[in-house]
Amino acid sequence: MDTTTKANRKYSKQIPVYIYDNADAASTHVAKQIVDLIRKKSERGECPVLGLATGSTPLPVYRELIKLYRNNKISFQNVITFNLDEYYPIEPSTRQSCAAYMYDNLFNHIDIKEKNIHIPSGNLNRDEIAEYCRNYENKIVDHGGIDLQLLGIGRTGHIGFNEPGSVMNSNMRAVKLDKLTREDAADDFMGEENVPRQGITMGVSTILGADKIILMAWGKHKANIVAQLVEDNISKHVPATFLQEHSNAEVILDKSAACKLT
Ligand code: PGA
Repeated sequence: MDTTTKANRKYSKQIPVYIYDNADAASTHVAKQIVDLIRKKSERGECPVLGLATGSTPLPVYRELIKLYRNNKISFQNVITFNLDEYYPIEPSTRQSCAAYMYDNLFNHIDIKEKNIHIPSGNLNRDEIAEYCRNYENKIVDHGGIDLQLLGIGRTGHIGFNEPGSVMNSNMRAVKLDKLTREDAADDFMGEENVPRQGITMGVSTILGADKIILMAWGKHKANIVAQLVEDNISKHVPATFLQEHSNAEVILDKSAACKLT
């Protein structure tokens, strides 16, 4: 069987899980879904709305999208994007910011319009955050909601920066980052002490508002939390389990991330 184009499909109680040989094969499939969505909505004269994530997980998807753009297979002219989260406090020009990541790894290489890009701001005054978050969520609604939300998963079970303890009806807000999340970011920031202590994130409820959600995970270090996400009961202690409540969410894994599924 050509495992670069076909995945094994397993079902949890509710979330379909697709397991690929490796992250590149899985990412080609995810990029294809994005391209299909962009084409379908564009043909109808509508603007596709993508919810985007940062971290190492979506990098091969972004590489594939850039390749498809360079080969004239797709245009991002009418694509609207909303990013999930940002560190707080951080300047967008800081190399480790989610903003810098998005420009370096995707936006600088495709024809997306600057005005269509939305990334939570990490350099607000503290007293501006609540209103900023309300406006960000209103903008998502004004654009008709997110068509497709990409997610990674942190080893804490976070989606966005919704760390353990985040409830299902949480909205966009400032949050304290879990110690494990800061440890995992320590190399990027050249030491845990340099990792910001907070983040601004779409809430669980904001994420669940997307029409379709694709959560991706690669590597053995994600296997435990992936097994909890797919097989455990829904709990605020593993916020990713809330995806089990979504009617159109799927989990895309490489073999290593799937190795603890029973
Ligand atoms: P990673 O992070 O893609 O760098 O593993 C995922 C996450 O924390 O959501």
